[in-house]
Amino acid sequence: MADKSASLSMDEKSFDYPVRAGTVGPDVIDIRKLYGQTGAFTFDPGFTSTASCESAITYIDGDKGVLLHRGYPIDQLAENSTFMEVAYLLLNGELPTRAELDKFTYTITRHTMVHEQLSQFYRGFRRDAHPMAVMCGVVGALSAFYHDSTDITDPHQRTVASHRLIAKMPTIAAMAYKYSVGQPFVYPQNDLSYTGNFLRMTFGVPAEPYEINPVIERAMRRIFILHADHEQNASTSTVRLAGSSGANPFACIAAGIACLWGPAHGGANEAALNMLREIGRPERIPEYIARAKDKDDPFRLMGFGHRVYKNYDPRAKVMQATADEVLKELGISDPVLDVARELEHIALHDEYFIEKKLYPNVDFYSGVILSAIGFPTSMFTVLFALARTTGWVAQWNEMISDPDQKIGRPRQLYTGAAQREYVPVDKR
Ligand code: CMC
Repeated sequence: MADKSASLSMDEKSFDYPVRAGTVGPDVIDIRKLYGQTGAFTFDPGFTSTASCESAITYIDGDKGVLLHRGYPIDQLAENSTFMEVAYLLLNGELPTRAELDKFTYTITRHTMVHEQLSQFYRGFRRDAHPMAVMCGVVGALSAFYHDSTDITDPHQRTVASHRLIAKMPTIAAMAYKYSVGQPFVYPQNDLSYTGNFLRMTFGVPAEPYEINPVIERAMRRIFILHADHEQNASTSTVRLAGSSGANPFACIAAGIACLWGPAHGGANEAALNMLREIGRPERIPEYIARAKDKDDPFRLMGFGHRVYKNYDPRAKVMQATADEVLKELGISDPVLDVARELEHIALHDEYFIEKKLYPNVDFYSGVILSAIGFPTSMFTVLFALARTTGWVAQWNEMISDPDQKIGRPRQLYTGAAQREYVPVDKR
């Protein structure tokens, strides 16, 4: 029972709505009875003031720049955890014991291969297809290959589908890359770590052994952990909305991938690096800052700003340190990193960015790292999708297990024509 309530006056009547408190964070006004009582809807395009669900997985304090998974700060997880540990935590709510972690890792590694016929599926795509287009198609197609884990009413099948998605995503992503460069697919090798295996499937070739560089493996592990979940962002909300109709999990994750592709969301890492390359040298930064501030210019600083963070994105801090580490290890001096650092410095001291609380987000430095490792820009969002699959799957499971779950069905403010009579074509 809520002890606070909020009242609304409308047409000289007053209505009370319970106010619910979470563990931390803003309260929510429970308006589920609003339409029934008042006949009015709320209007909140972009969901800027609307909690679409109850969740116990991830918490963000945007003003303080805090991100917690099941209560654990992201920087602690990025520093100390393996990706398998974070995946277990997101799915199950607690950090695993050694025995639980071993069992979970064993289960995931036993699902890393994909149905052999799936490799034929890739050959239907043009070689120059964007790998995100390939990902949307191939992940959606998984439901045609794994019929025994599409019954969402069966908790066992839901678990198997979750494990399959987390396990197969690196294989599918690496295959998308291999297909684009015309190299043979590399099968997974299960004695490697989740990230080591992915690196080998991506950059290894059958003709020679692939040696995993521990600094790169660590950087990839961090990048995967930093992208694993981010509460009710656009793609996660898409997965939940798709799943709310009872669609199978493979179809739901394919929907999430499609949403993630956009440049305002997961596509920003690709866009950020393209922008840094276009700027090219620190002297040109003022020109781009001026464009970002110009209301008549649609240009935005990619990798800057966030709907929730009104402070430095905690993921960007880890990303920045990782960029330094990777470039040093690889002996690369990339002028793009100098441009990024200088751009960040200038933007953080500029009145426009200060006033609007625009800070670097996770995507600002990730492109510099991924490019140094050898990924083409078109693969950046694929890596985001690979890592975020764990969060999507955890959020999808939480939704399906919620007894209050209903099909997601937003309402609208209709501003089109009122009812009118059909006019035959020769009378128009
Ligand atoms: N460059 C210049 N101005 C900006 C930027 C930017 N990157 N981001 C926001 N603004 C301005 C915007 O013009 C607006 O100004 P005004 O109030 O005068 O109209 C104000 O800041 C608020 O922006 P908004 O678009 O209303 O904010 P939002 O919460 O709807 O958008 C965002 C958030 C991430 C889409 C936006 O900041 C953006 O487009 N950033 C660049 C793309 C990017 O880096 N996306 C990755 C997000 S993090 C990874 C992920 O979660 O996917």
